[in-house]
Amino acid sequence: MTAPGVTSLRQNRNVNIVVGVTGGIAAYKSVHLVRLLTKAGHDVTVVPTEDALRFVGLPTWEAISRHPVTTSVHDDVAKVRHVAIGQAAELVIVAPATANTIASMTAGLASDLLGTTLLATLAPVVIAPAMHTEMWRHPATQANIATLRARGVHVVGPDEGELAGGDTGPGRMSEPEEIVAAALAVAALQDLAGLRVAISAGGTREPIDPVRFLGNRSSGRQGVALAAEAAARGAEVVLVAAHIDPAVRAAATHPSIRVLDVGTAAELSTAMKDAAATADVVIMAAAVADYRPAVASDHKLTKEEGVLTRIDLVENEDVVAALAVTRADGHAPDGQTIVAFAAETLRDAEQRRERARRKRERKGVDLLAVNLADAEHGFERAENAVEVIGVDGAVVATSSGTKRQVAGAIWNSVLAAR
Ligand SMILES: Cc1cc2nc3c(=O)[nH]c(=O)nc-3n(C[C@H](O)[C@H](O)[C@H](O)COP(=O)(O)O)c2cc1C
Repeated sequence: MTAPGVTSLRQNRNVNIVVGVTGGIAAYKSVHLVRLLTKAGHDVTVVPTEDALRFVGLPTWEAISRHPVTTSVHDDVAKVRHVAIGQAAELVIVAPATANTIASMTAGLASDLLGTTLLATLAPVVIAPAMHTEMWRHPATQANIATLRARGVHVVGPDEGELAGGDTGPGRMSEPEEIVAAALAVAALQDLAGLRVAISAGGTREPIDPVRFLGNRSSGRQGVALAAEAAARGAEVVLVAAHIDPAVRAAATHPSIRVLDVGTAAELSTAMKDAAATADVVIMAAAVADYRPAVASDHKLTKEEGVLTRIDLVENEDVVAALAVTRADGHAPDGQTIVAFAAETLRDAEQRRERARRKRERKGVDLLAVNLADAEHGFERAENAVEVIGVDGAVVATSSGTKRQVAGAIWNSVLAAR
């Protein structure tokens, strides 16, 4: 559900691409990969590792890319080459990606030009692993791959088939055509590049006393997925995180995502107002408590005191409505888009929509994503199902699946609304 025209438009332009080549037999296949890219008109800089040159020599890479090639950070120092290549890249492909290079990337090592390029770039990174099945299946490699995926690295393959030593199994590098298609699709989806985005996620906790709070069951998964999707598509993201489990927030590990931790609704409000002041898109995915205890005790309340049988509540600020007022007053970037979320337990779809329409109007936001919070969907679940209501009350998008898939559909609606 990409915004109409966006993908085809971007795929037709020439992309500045870095191809990292590392020391595996499949390096010979990357000669074809580079040729596919240059023939399609893309500008390719090849950055091999020292070991890669044992498989395919430097003159070959220079001839097919028509650019000078080096492995070292010490060449051409005047042009600060070790960061310049990464900064200028719009897409980085590492093919083949050896077990060694995958481990180096995970650790963030900068021991050669490819390492510094990968650390300096904000461009999407696509890797095509190639190695023996045992190396691929090793828990160390699998853990490294999981970490890289969580950071937003796209992994193509490996395929199953005959390997260099004659044995068969998963580990064979995907075919160059497949890698190129996947990588260009990733580059095409940089449709949020240049957008500054503020997203709230998680659930606030309102203290009753130092050990108790009023909270909710929001895990923060949907907000984290929105942040990860936005960063992967090129946006600069501030993620205001309320009590998100480290395992969940790991998915928001990306150089373009800045995480601000908050606890209460008041803290979340302050952080979001700050972030929204310079944001092109604001998404309130956090479950913010409507009420807080009128008094938070400074000591743990005891049964003997008898006060826990009754807690007086006062209303919290409606943060998203306040952000919409700030925008209406002209204190937000021009054309700011505001998206609110509503979790509904109403099973009747039309009733749910009607309530969502009223809520969108009341809050003064552009889009309202309404999700069904039941046993299979919504809070604490990996899956979600949403309908997005637009300014005229129409359902502008419907999406169900993983929260990342739903995040993709919501971003498409934001683009269409802008
Ligand atoms: C003939 C040969 C083939 C190799 N093929 C692979 C491979 O497909 N995948 C891999 O991870 N390592 C492979 N290796 C091991 C790597 O070359 C070695 O780990 C090297 O340190 C990788 O360095 P690099 O990641 O900096 O390029 C191979 C080694 C040799 C001698």
